[in-house]
Amino acid sequence: MRDTLRVPWPLWPFFDAEEESALLGVLHSGKWWCVEGTESRQFEEEFAVFQGASYAVACTNGTAALEIALRALDIGCGDEVIVPAYSFIATASSVLGVGAAPLFVDIQPDTLNIDPTLIASAVTPRTRAVIVVHMAGRPADMDAILEVAARHNLLVIEDAAQAHGSEWRGRRVGALGHLGTFSFQASKNLNAGEGGIVVTDDEVLGEAAWSVANVGRVRKGRRYEHSVYGSNFRMTEFQSAILRTQLKRLPGQSARRTANAAVLRELLQGIPGIALPSLDPRITAHAYHLFTFRYDPEAFGGRSYVDFIAALGAEGIPCSDGYVPLYKEGMFYRTPGRKSAFCQAGRRIDYAKMHLPVCEQVCQDTVWLPQNLLLAERSDMETIAAAILKIQQSAAA
Ligand SMILES: Cc1ncc(COP(=O)(O)O)c(C=O)c1O
Repeated sequence: MRDTLRVPWPLWPFFDAEEESALLGVLHSGKWWCVEGTESRQFEEEFAVFQGASYAVACTNGTAALEIALRALDIGCGDEVIVPAYSFIATASSVLGVGAAPLFVDIQPDTLNIDPTLIASAVTPRTRAVIVVHMAGRPADMDAILEVAARHNLLVIEDAAQAHGSEWRGRRVGALGHLGTFSFQASKNLNAGEGGIVVTDDEVLGEAAWSVANVGRVRKGRRYEHSVYGSNFRMTEFQSAILRTQLKRLPGQSARRTANAAVLRELLQGIPGIALPSLDPRITAHAYHLFTFRYDPEAFGGRSYVDFIAALGAEGIPCSDGYVPLYKEGMFYRTPGRKSAFCQAGRRIDYAKMHLPVCEQVCQDTVWLPQNLLLAERSDMETIAAAILKIQQSAAA
């Protein structure tokens, strides 16, 4: 078993001479930005193929990708967008960013994804879209989401920031709805330090996304012709070159994560007080950006969630707690005397009064293990399970 305090877990990111030569290639080309360069165009094509989408627009980061997707769908002031309450802030802040208001919906306790049965009751006459997050790389229930969205005429954005290569019923996520977004931030399974991309199967939306990411230009139009509102969200050639080499490594890394996640699942499922996400045969590939489980202090002699995470860390197992319910974040409160991000045409939503019980519970008991642990040896999964058992036994003693 790994001596976790002495032998480091697989380093992330992984790179070698291929990334070095890709970066030097861009450096010496003198073409460092994507409008004149070729790396970004090629990366867009390769990632679109990888994800099973027809079009892709590379951009600065996953937060920008969400804003681009919203603007491409012409969502703005006075509109409302349904989002899960359990996610990274960008899922909801991007909605504020375009002047619309997020409507938070609770999640499922066994998937950490938006609960599709709660979407219909959140819809108002102002609701234009739903953003679904494939949390930790686990696809959300796209059958139920696409069905409820069609019934209520909602546009669907997939926030696939954590779900590179994830599949729902054999189809990769991203272009299952209208537009999908990905992040290439440093912790992600495919990364260039920062970066993002928008994908779609719809050519008109693809062109709209391109315009938003390129200061409102029209592709093949004049350089100083800006027909819609956009900003400079372009990815650099350096990022694209790194991502092209990293993309070649992704299938092998994903296979390893999947195999190790199955081993770890097997080892943890017998441990009282550890609840694993449910299995769903419709998920044909899970990116495992995170391996998550829920913790019940009662089975650990009353040791608190915070203490458990500290104890696991002390055993040399990198782990963390996760999000707080998004509606508790200060940015959603209208502070007197401060200009608000809210469009004044919007209805006043009092986020302080929200209470979404599943999300609130999950935020107090869910443990995240980062994806690079799943790149270790199969036997290292035993090390993780042994550390958890040791903490349990020490509580019982
Ligand atoms: C679910 C989710 N959405 C959006 C983002 C935003 O991506 P970025 O950090 O590249 O802006 C992230 C990244 O942390 C994320 O996890």
